[in-house]
Amino acid sequence: MNFNPSKIAGDFPVLSRKINGAPIVYLDSTASSLKPLAVIEEIDRYYRELSVNIFRGVYNLSEEATALYENARQTAADFIGASSASEIVFTRNATESLNLLAASLTKKLAAGSGIVSTVMEHHANIVPWQVAAGEKDFTLSFVDIDENGKLDLADLRKKINKKTAVFTFTYVSNVLGTINPVREIISQIKKINSKIIIIVDAAQAVPHMPLNVQDLGADFMVFSSHKMCGPTGIGVLWGKQHLLEMLPPYQTGGEMIREVRLDSSTYNESPYKFEAGTPHIAGAMGLAAAMKYLQGKGLDKIRQHEIKLTAYALEKLKSIENVAIYGPEKAENRGGVIAFNLKGVHPHDVAQILNSENICIRSGHHCAMPLHTRLNIGSSCRASFYLYNSEKDVDALLQGLKNTAKFFLKKRC
Ligand code: ALA
Repeated sequence: MNFNPSKIAGDFPVLSRKINGAPIVYLDSTASSLKPLAVIEEIDRYYRELSVNIFRGVYNLSEEATALYENARQTAADFIGASSASEIVFTRNATESLNLLAASLTKKLAAGSGIVSTVMEHHANIVPWQVAAGEKDFTLSFVDIDENGKLDLADLRKKINKKTAVFTFTYVSNVLGTINPVREIISQIKKINSKIIIIVDAAQAVPHMPLNVQDLGADFMVFSSHKMCGPTGIGVLWGKQHLLEMLPPYQTGGEMIREVRLDSSTYNESPYKFEAGTPHIAGAMGLAAAMKYLQGKGLDKIRQHEIKLTAYALEKLKSIENVAIYGPEKAENRGGVIAFNLKGVHPHDVAQILNSENICIRSGHHCAMPLHTRLNIGSSCRASFYLYNSEKDVDALLQGLKNTAKFFLKKRC
């Protein structure tokens, strides 16, 4: 069956809205995707039909809710090819997953250990490690990028050594769109240091392409539900079972305990050890529905669609005078995200003018200030695509940019 984005757009109620009488052109899925009806209905089902807490109730409603929550864990495990549902920890989002890892690893790692990340990370994969470094005197270093916005692999090999305890990096840059060769990178650095713990931030990858976590060779991987058609407030930390067992808990209370005495406590096994308090039950059900929805459309087809749309957008953007585009040249080497600047116009002004035409893009630093500093720019515009976008959305963006250039630069494009 053909992949039909216009038909798919019909699954997303927000896209049937009109603002000031005009339809919405949504080009900010890198920040948050829209939600299909199937997901909204599943969240609604929890509140209408269940509404109760899980684990501790012996009554039918609670047992039903518990089963749905645990089914969602299994769905997430299957979605990324984890070897067991017990390797899936539900968190609030990728940011919380990274904070959990940084905080828990800090308690385990020897003072003075090396932590390596990259300059293309968003803040959630930088700041928690800065905090960790401050607590235990870790040395923190960042792998550079080359002039095409790809990771500098020679610099990576220089930065990783026997004292490096953790390498944490993104699968897909949320600004440059760069898709890192994760499998090759991991295999290379494990040869330099087989004990290194490797964390992959897959927030911009899991929603957009087929992926098997066991095939990658990582130790931990994180992602968010809200970027993959699921609800906000829930995300995933995947970890190899023996590593999850080795880590101390992040927060305490609720289902994460085994036995509590007034002077000491023992903890539950993973993943429950990391899920303190009442979890986001409706969120887990909604995330599972989102995963099933994406599988129904086909992750490989979504990826191919995004490559085509990104190639189309890159070609059109290049045709506009005064546009600077950041990141790899070829669409095959990037996710469906394009950061750019219209020279001489502030990104916020571009976004404002586009908004007056109901075109939603992002402007600013996209939670990646160090990357913008590395690119010698203060901020950028960012358009991103997902399964519900089509060429007509790109055409609208292009027309909007031409109108913006005309307005600010007083010249015809
Ligand atoms: N959520 C952040 C973004 O918009 C990281 O890219």
